[in-house]
Amino acid sequence: MEHINSFYLLSSLFLLSHIATSSMEQRGAYIIHMDKSVIPAPFPTPHHWYTSTLSSLTSKDGIAPIHLYTYKHVMDGFSAVLSKSQLNQLEKMPGHVVTYDEQLGQAHTTHTPKFLGLKKRAGLWPAGSFGDDMIVGILDTGIYPESESFSDHGMPSVPQRWRGGCESGTEFNSSNCNHKLIGARSFSKALKQLNLTISGPDDYDSPRDFFGHGTHTSSTAVGSKVTDVDYFGYAKGTAIGIAPLARLAMYKVLFYNDTLVSAASDTLAGIDQAIEDGVDLMSLSLGFPETTFDGNPIAVGSFAAMEKGIFVSCSAGNSGPHAYTMFNGAPWITTVGAGTIDREFLAYVTLGDGVATIKGKSIYPMDLSISHVSLYYGQDTNKQNCEDFSLDSIEVLGKIVFCAFNNRTRVRAQMKEVARAGAKGALLATNLTKSTSFFAFNFPFVAISPIEGELIKDYLQKTSEATVDIKFIITELGTKPAPQVANFSSRGPNQRAPWVLKPDILAPGVEVLAAWPLDKAITPIGEDDSLNTDYALLSGTSMSSPHVVGIATLLKSAHRDWSSAAIRSAMMTTADVIDNQNEQILDISTGTAGTPLDFGAGHVNPNKAVDPGLVYDIEVEDYINFLCALNYTSQQIKVITRRSNYACDQANLDLNYPSFAVVLSNNTNTTTYSFKRVLTNVANSDSVYRAVIWAPSGMEVVVEPSTLTFGSKYTKAEFTMKVVVDVAGHSTQSGYIGKHGYLIWYEIKGKHVVRSPIVLAFAP
Ligand SMILES: *[C@@H]1O[C@H](CO)[C@@H](O)[C@H](O)[C@H]1NC(C)=O
Ligand SMILES: *[C@@H]1O[C@H](CO)[C@@H](O)[C@H](O)[C@H]1NC(C)=O
Ligand SMILES: *[C@@H]1O[C@H](CO)[C@@H](O)[C@H](O)[C@H]1NC(C)=O
Ligand SMILES: *[C@@H]1O[C@H](CO)[C@@H](O)[C@H](O)[C@H]1NC(C)=O
Ligand SMILES: *[C@@H]1O[C@H](CO)[C@@H](O)[C@H](O)[C@H]1NC(C)=O
Ligand SMILES: *[C@@H]1O[C@H](CO)[C@@H](O)[C@H](O)[C@H]1NC(C)=O
Ligand SMILES: *[C@@H]1O[C@H](CO)[C@@H](O)[C@H](O)[C@H]1NC(C)=O
Ligand SMILES: *[C@@H]1O[C@H](CO)[C@@H](O)[C@H](O)[C@H]1NC(C)=O
Ligand SMILES: *[C@@H]1O[C@H](CO)[C@@H](O)[C@H](O)[C@H]1NC(C)=O
Repeated sequence: MEHINSFYLLSSLFLLSHIATSSMEQRGAYIIHMDKSVIPAPFPTPHHWYTSTLSSLTSKDGIAPIHLYTYKHVMDGFSAVLSKSQLNQLEKMPGHVVTYDEQLGQAHTTHTPKFLGLKKRAGLWPAGSFGDDMIVGILDTGIYPESESFSDHGMPSVPQRWRGGCESGTEFNSSNCNHKLIGARSFSKALKQLNLTISGPDDYDSPRDFFGHGTHTSSTAVGSKVTDVDYFGYAKGTAIGIAPLARLAMYKVLFYNDTLVSAASDTLAGIDQAIEDGVDLMSLSLGFPETTFDGNPIAVGSFAAMEKGIFVSCSAGNSGPHAYTMFNGAPWITTVGAGTIDREFLAYVTLGDGVATIKGKSIYPMDLSISHVSLYYGQDTNKQNCEDFSLDSIEVLGKIVFCAFNNRTRVRAQMKEVARAGAKGALLATNLTKSTSFFAFNFPFVAISPIEGELIKDYLQKTSEATVDIKFIITELGTKPAPQVANFSSRGPNQRAPWVLKPDILAPGVEVLAAWPLDKAITPIGEDDSLNTDYALLSGTSMSSPHVVGIATLLKSAHRDWSSAAIRSAMMTTADVIDNQNEQILDISTGTAGTPLDFGAGHVNPNKAVDPGLVYDIEVEDYINFLCALNYTSQQIKVITRRSNYACDQANLDLNYPSFAVVLSNNTNTTTYSFKRVLTNVANSDSVYRAVIWAPSGMEVVVEPSTLTFGSKYTKAEFTMKVVVDVAGHSTQSGYIGKHGYLIWYEIKGKHVVRSPIVLAFAP
């Protein structure tokens, strides 16, 4: 006995010191793909096989593997935390296919939410009674169930086919779900392994939304109609999602840790569960690094969703405005860029002489009455430019500081300096007034143009007692031009597959108003006040994806038999390529006309998408043949499609896509590119269409035949299109990338117009 005890004591001491010293093995989380077809007979399910395999792995430090998730739909396999030696053992076992390292993704929103809560109309489109009976899964930061936008007033009971659930966790339980919010789950196992403190104070270990992002995206897509809402007494209005009668299921995969992060294995688990639960559509406003599609959890997960007829929309990313900055470029995903809307938030500035009233840009949320307040302009250049630590708190106390524009103005630094010095407010002359990067709602900032800055300088010269009046909280609707491509919106070409144009489409993503957790102060105002709001303005492609999933929900509801590719085609071929001034849609980053590499097929137009006339449809096999043509190995194809030894005898880069990317190689003078596409009639009657080409010089396009005749609904017709590009004298991309034309099918004696961009791209 004694002996055993002392031995036990010794060995446990030994074990302790063993752990405390360097011999404890490094561990990591891995996503492990398995070949389900070689499952040994005794195991009733793959899950039993995987967990048994895991428990058979040994390690020197005696720490057992931790199983995270077994995947059912998105892939064959599981995720687990393992040491390197355990991974080595696992990789030698029969049935192991390939292992991917855990990786982190990010939300595609700006990290600082932009203020506000002017209760104006939300959603650009009048709400129909569509969306009924559709279930939309949103993978995001969770949900604030108390928001009026998720009220189920008047909604019928939960559809019978729904298999989802409402998980309990920190400050969340099943009573938070209702007939609107019909499911809510949280996936944090992998992030917890990375030691993220999810259980507060920074987030909730439950479907409850801490950050607000998921509440915002969800209400944009499917928020219930909320009438007569107001914010601190400001303009009353109606808040409404794009598909207000659709049901919502939240899958929380993004957690707050300075920024919003997501682990690949958690995201895969969220998509897997959404498929299992029975969602009809999904939206993901996050992205992982653009690797080949097999290494990207959203590409892998959404392939399985697409196969089951689930529409998947994703944000294109906020890494613009340069080329090749796209995320979520897999062709079975609908990839959405961000555009501005025709609404601006302003402040009116009137100078003391009453001569000029300037419309500045401001999103300051409080109606400060600034009337005849002293306007401060420093005596020397540093003070005039509001350079770091140039302002004297006593000098600027109670005054509005004017910060001049010059060729080294850094507006953010100016804002910081004015706030540091504690002035009453500031007028900032900047050429970035159109840029959405101008945001600060926590201080009375007004951005004005350099020209208006000169006006103010003139006024300052004329008087020694300059004063100013400022009226905040002016919302102007119908501003022009709109939409424009947001500076931050990620641009094509598609990094991993330039043969498919990405982004697909543009949707509102700048200063979008949607629901927000009321318990979360959106911004500190002044020293000790903070504003809580139930509606907030955010910008990012994160905000545009839910618009598109909402529109897709309406389309799917109206056309139950359309595939996800048909829904996307309907949106793309009817998208707007001109703005509200009848000009080509501008790219804010250049101030000149954008190209399809910026806006895809154009800005989504929901009312037209309902009735596109024709669609370019795509079958599952077509996507696999596309992967074959990308020269993916049979292992990569298995990882994405769960098909073993796919034949790849029909490899084809020419997907039946509603847009055309002509991929050039350097150092060729003339390139001839051929496409073969099939159109399907989705109108209720026979029709004849004629092709019209719009092409820039240097691009010659021939369509054969140029007239297509369709019989009854769902009949098909095929055409070929040859594009000859003359790049003589140019050996590089400059001047060619983004050059574009359009192929437009006009219905003869009918109203349908089916437009596709033809754009020149280069492989990255
Ligand atoms: C769920 O939470 C609510 C509010 O926190 C509480 O009133 C209710 O009792 C809880 N229900 C269950 C089933 O735990
Ligand atoms: C998490 O914390 C544990 C305990 O402090 C530590 O052993 C482990 O290495 C940490 N894991 C990571 C990924 O940092
Ligand atoms: C969480 O934030 C900490 C501090 O910024 C950082 O060191 C850590 O890498 C982050 N973890 C993840 C998983 O992003
Ligand atoms: C703004 O002004 C700076 C300095 O003159 C200049 O470098 C920059 O290109 C301008 N930006 C825009 C968008 O006009
Ligand atoms: C910026 O402006 C200063 C003074 O106006 C001038 O001396 C300087 O050359 C300018 N720099 C550039 C890069 O234009
Ligand atoms: C666009 O974004 C880039 C990169 O973030 C930035 O340098 C540039 O100033 C922005 N342009 C405008 C007009 O906001
Ligand atoms: C795939 O491989 C073939 C044969 O080597 C090659 O001709 C083709 O260009 C490759 N395709 C891509 C997309 O790299
Ligand atoms: C392409 O055109 C340039 C200029 O016209 C000429 O110098 C070059 O030899 C041509 N290259 C080929 C491959 O034909
Ligand atoms: C094509 O030219 C661009 C520069 O214009 C260069 O960056 C790229 O690497 C070239 N691509 C190939 C495949 O040579």
